[in-house]
Amino acid sequence: MDGEAVSQYFDATADVYTTETEIDEMDPPPLVDEFIDHRCKKGDRLLEIGCGDGKLLEYVLEYTDISEAYGIDISTEMLPDPDNDAQGQYLHASATDLPLPFEREGFDFVVMSDVLHHLVGPYRWEAKRRAQAALVEATNLLRPGGYLLVKDIFYESRAGPDTLTSHLIFLGLRHCSGVASRIDVEALPGLLVSFYTRDELRELLRQSGTTVVDRSIERGSKQSTVRRLLVGDSGCIRLYAEKKRRDNPPTNAKRVDAAGSRSEGGADAENGSGARDG
Ligand SMILES: C[S@@+](CC[C@H](N)C(=O)[O-])C[C@H]1O[C@@H](n2cnc3c(N)ncnc32)[C@H](O)[C@@H]1O
Repeated sequence: MDGEAVSQYFDATADVYTTETEIDEMDPPPLVDEFIDHRCKKGDRLLEIGCGDGKLLEYVLEYTDISEAYGIDISTEMLPDPDNDAQGQYLHASATDLPLPFEREGFDFVVMSDVLHHLVGPYRWEAKRRAQAALVEATNLLRPGGYLLVKDIFYESRAGPDTLTSHLIFLGLRHCSGVASRIDVEALPGLLVSFYTRDELRELLRQSGTTVVDRSIERGSKQSTVRRLLVGDSGCIRLYAEKKRRDNPPTNAKRVDAAGSRSEGGADAENGSGARDG
């Protein structure tokens, strides 16, 4: 499964995933309400990878202190119409086409909402490798102390290793796509997805150089018996992770050099206050 198939899938189904609702009629997106709104300050810059119709970006620009918002998406049909009066800046690009065309450490927030599971490869381990590479890149684009916000769907199995359900979903979909594409090449393009367990998602974030500082979980209300037998736990998880801050020597601290003489913090004192509240 390559990016071409994923973009075809979203181009063909954009009306299912996009909404006509105006932002002043929307409920605040939980990622904004639970986190961004409390932590952002004037001048902050936000990037959403896989931004779809850009509703989150338009919302933060209208209702929070975020000053600049950028979005990329692999599907041109998902992106907001360039003729409308969107305030965000949108780019047709893939999360797996690295490096992304943005300044390193240029963002205060990077958001990936329901995107990780679409970064797939022929095998689940390859999908996971791509998801990891995309998260490392997202972290590279964050300033130290900036926040990486990931929302995704998780699946965990009831019996056996907790990754069993997501492996079975991956293999099942890969098989279905293969069979269907032999009958009709248009069938199920881009449907292959790779879900993860909560532990896998937390580990992917840790490996990208961030620390999870908060999270929230929502579970679907009703589950069928078959589903309850096959799936131990599933739902949607939001993980809020902070990029490691630079280890700066304490500002204005007296330092002892190799010869034992003391000096005041100089240039480091200028750089040492990168941290901020939150
Ligand atoms: C389920 S939608 C989520 C849209 C939006 N983030 C939201 O939460 O409403 C997934 C989005 O990810 C985009 N996408 C999938 N694979 C991508 C990739 N490799 N690079 C960039 N965007 C991608 C799709 O085109 C689609 O807009």
